[in-house]
Amino acid sequence: MLTVAVLISGTGSNLRALLDAAAHEDYPARIVVVGADREADGFAHAEAHGIPTFLVPFRNFADREDWGRELADQLRTWSPDLVVLSGLMRLLPADLVAEWSPRIINTHPAFLPEFPGAHGVRDALAAGVDRTGASVIVVDAGVDSGPILAQDRVPIRVGDDEHALHDRIKPVERRLLIDVVRRIATGELDLAAASAPSR
Ligand code: GAR
Repeated sequence: MLTVAVLISGTGSNLRALLDAAAHEDYPARIVVVGADREADGFAHAEAHGIPTFLVPFRNFADREDWGRELADQLRTWSPDLVVLSGLMRLLPADLVAEWSPRIINTHPAFLPEFPGAHGVRDALAAGVDRTGASVIVVDAGVDSGPILAQDRVPIRVGDDEHALHDRIKPVERRLLIDVVRRIATGELDLAAASAPSR
């Protein structure tokens, strides 16, 4: 059974979907802890499933490195097989990424490498394109620049605003995330191989 720590910042709708999937006995992964960088509404989903939570408030630390050290300590305590960033709206310090790489993945509301960063949905709308998407990647030292594990397209409709478009992207993200975690757990997807530099 693959053990998973999930890190969030917000509503945690993708977390909730992963928790629901993992509650099925034939799903090969279990969420062991949910952490956040701020008081996140998504903690309620963890609590509803009886999953422990931890909070490492970014604002309580002098800088990203200090914050990252405490976050790294928390993750070591739980020692999960995999760390999932599911709406964590904070760049992780390079040391933490290096410690967990390649066992750290992120879900992003755009078809990477298009529209990386904190405003993937807004940036796609601003670019005037007619489709965007969702991606699940391995986290590396850059911003949403790691190896892509799964992605799918989502059409942009006339009249879409950021909220409406994001609401249509999230179900795609959930499907991809649940499937990627399942494939990592079964060994069908090898993160080390997926992260190896291509020759
Ligand atoms: C998700 O769409 C996730 O991809 C995005 O935040 C949302 C969280 O939603 N993350 C990023 O944009 C990271 N760059 P949720 O809290 O409802 O799961």
